[in-house]
Amino acid sequence: MSQKFTTKNPSKPTVGVLCSGGGSNLQVLIDRARTGELGGEIRWVVSNNGDAFALERARNAGIEAIHASAKSLGSLEAVEAKMLELIDRDQIKVLVLAGYMKAIPVSVIHRLNGRVLNIHPALLPAFGGVGMYGHFVHEAVLASGAMWTGVTIHLVTEKYDEGPIVAQRVVAVYPGDTPESLGARVLAMEHDTLWREVRTILERP
Ligand code: GAR
Repeated sequence: MSQKFTTKNPSKPTVGVLCSGGGSNLQVLIDRARTGELGGEIRWVVSNNGDAFALERARNAGIEAIHASAKSLGSLEAVEAKMLELIDRDQIKVLVLAGYMKAIPVSVIHRLNGRVLNIHPALLPAFGGVGMYGHFVHEAVLASGAMWTGVTIHLVTEKYDEGPIVAQRVVAVYPGDTPESLGARVLAMEHDTLWREVRTILERP
């Protein structure tokens, strides 16, 4: 059965999104695109995880949802080829890593001329790097005794979690915080931050 996707508007810059999990940040992008505030159109959502709720959110919004993993496509090279094909097909202007827990192929970064944004749930360079994602980040922040954490949006380069920072917002750590309570406060800040930075990069000529 053929799937129906959102009406393509050639006058709007195009966005691709990569997700691995729940996709609450994706949902904000979908909602802000719908109101026109994002200033662009989300053409597809790719996930390395076929069960990711993010894919469901995309489908519910009429956006093409693709499971692309070495398992589903047969090899890492096939995942890379799929990403490049989608970027070229839709002339993607910005690729957003919204809770994507894998490194992306260098060829993808090059194809987009650096217009790849990642969101990280801490103040990079603190609490970043391989293995630092999701709840592990908040656990490490609490274990360190830090009084502040936050949100970082950065451009993706070949060095994991080390690309130029385009926005940071601070979130206080409270006495008695758990990884869950802190994570929820950081996530709320993420929701107010990511779409604005996507809009900013979409506005660039
Ligand atoms: C977000 O907190 C995001 O910052 C984090 O994963 C979560 C995804 O939530 N990303 C990383 O840790 C990347 N290193 P979401 O699926 O509900 O948007």
